[in-house]
Amino acid sequence: MPALAEPELTRSDMPESDPTETETETDLWETHAGWWQDGFTAGADPEYEEQILPLAAHYLTGAERVLDIGCGEGQVARLAVEVGARLVVGVDPTRAQIAEALTRGGGPLYARSGADGLPFPDGCFDTVVACLVFEHINEVDRAIAEVSRVLRPGGRFLFFLNHPLLQTPNSGWIDDQILDPPEQYWRIGPYLIEELSIEEVEKDVFIPFIHRPLSRYVNALADNGLLITQMHEPAPPTGFLAQAAEYEAASTIPRLLLLVTRKEAGQA
Ligand SMILES: C[S@@+](CC[C@H](N)C(=O)[O-])C[C@H]1O[C@@H](n2cnc3c(N)ncnc32)[C@H](O)[C@@H]1O
Repeated sequence: MPALAEPELTRSDMPESDPTETETETDLWETHAGWWQDGFTAGADPEYEEQILPLAAHYLTGAERVLDIGCGEGQVARLAVEVGARLVVGVDPTRAQIAEALTRGGGPLYARSGADGLPFPDGCFDTVVACLVFEHINEVDRAIAEVSRVLRPGGRFLFFLNHPLLQTPNSGWIDDQILDPPEQYWRIGPYLIEELSIEEVEKDVFIPFIHRPLSRYVNALADNGLLITQMHEPAPPTGFLAQAAEYEAASTIPRLLLLVTRKEAGQA
């Protein structure tokens, strides 16, 4: 059997598509991109340094053609280049993120695009990664269908999420000293309700988050021929616990979920 020709994608093809998410949510990311860039990239965040980037490096090693959806300032895309990918493309609807990604360089190509209308041909990547992005995407079904469309059969989707079961809105550690004897436990907020909230993540910084039950994601993956092959729920890393003493008691509660999925061979 002759090998199938790979769909061509070169630097000069890089498109500028019009993101279709509502303006308000993209505007909030536009206004507050600096909060992400300063606090969570370039070594600033222990969860990225000790956990997310090492996990991503593990699964990106050996990938050749990588798409990073919601790439932000590009830390995961640059990592894909560092571990040897031949072609790495990052997309994000936020101009301020793409501008910073271009400034930081490091080898990936970038285009401005939302996840729900990817400006690439079918089957053109062997790996797609989305790192802490789907919590910000309204059109989850269209976005997952797009992931599947641009992946070649047998390709991998690395799907990093804030743990949807254990990090619901209003979840947190409860130390109830009124009960006799006192009780300590992790409270889970309203889990089954799919809801957008605008959270003040620090003073005057507002970011849109959409909570969804885990089954919503798993079923959308299955409907698009993306089958889970590995699942990671790591304990919070030591560098995070050192900065968040209040979390020590809840250190058996994961903050991160990584689903590693493979596109079924028969899937178009
Ligand atoms: C929490 S940041 C993560 C950035 C990057 N993946 C990383 O791990 O450093 C979330 C990113 O999602 C992007 N985003 C928001 N809405 C999006 C959408 N509809 N499609 C793709 N990305 C989106 C934001 O602009 C932001 O850069």
